[in-house]
Amino acid sequence: MAINPADDNASIRVLFSEEDIAERVDTLGQEIAGLLGNDLLLIAILKGSFVFTADLMRSMHRAGIRPQVDFMQLSSYGTGTESSKTVEMVRDTTDPIEGRNILIVDDILESGRTMDFAREHLYKRGANKVGLCVLLDKVGKRVEGVGVEADFVGFVCPDEFVVGYGLDWAHYYRELPFIGVVEES
Ligand code: IMP
Ligand code: MG
Repeated sequence: MAINPADDNASIRVLFSEEDIAERVDTLGQEIAGLLGNDLLLIAILKGSFVFTADLMRSMHRAGIRPQVDFMQLSSYGTGTESSKTVEMVRDTTDPIEGRNILIVDDILESGRTMDFAREHLYKRGANKVGLCVLLDKVGKRVEGVGVEADFVGFVCPDEFVVGYGLDWAHYYRELPFIGVVEES
């Protein structure tokens, strides 16, 4: 029997526990604070990165810096094949971008198209410097012609479809405090 996103009986195989995530995000916040310092605008890519960004910002506070935050909602959809995927702007940022030092924050880097689109868009709007931070990196999944690598990575992610800590499967599972793979129970 196939599982579906709304299935109450599905179980989740944990890949990154709540404790693993808390520890790693705290370290990442300190690293970013040390390297990028103040006057930083975080741009969280919605919806997937809202949980990660909230924790990351607070770890940056503990490291003594005062980042600002804005949000950009992007959607990527396929018209059948992987390579025909396009990224669309659903909601743009509202803060001034010109001359700003920006760190884009996303949940997961896969083909690289989402990050590539966001970065290009911000440079076109006059950003000074745009860095990339992702919680999860599915290395080896980048598509040809998209030269995106993240400056800050939480965890290398196995090539499986993961949910939790903001990541969804058809709008479900974002509330999980850990990250895992949905399985039949
Ligand atoms: P990319 O544009 O191919 O790099 O994919 C990035 C986007 O695809 C992320 O922002 C996620 O929304 C989504 N995505 C990729 N892999 C997963 C996954 O394993 N679980 C949930 N969402 C994913
Ligand atoms: Mg996303």
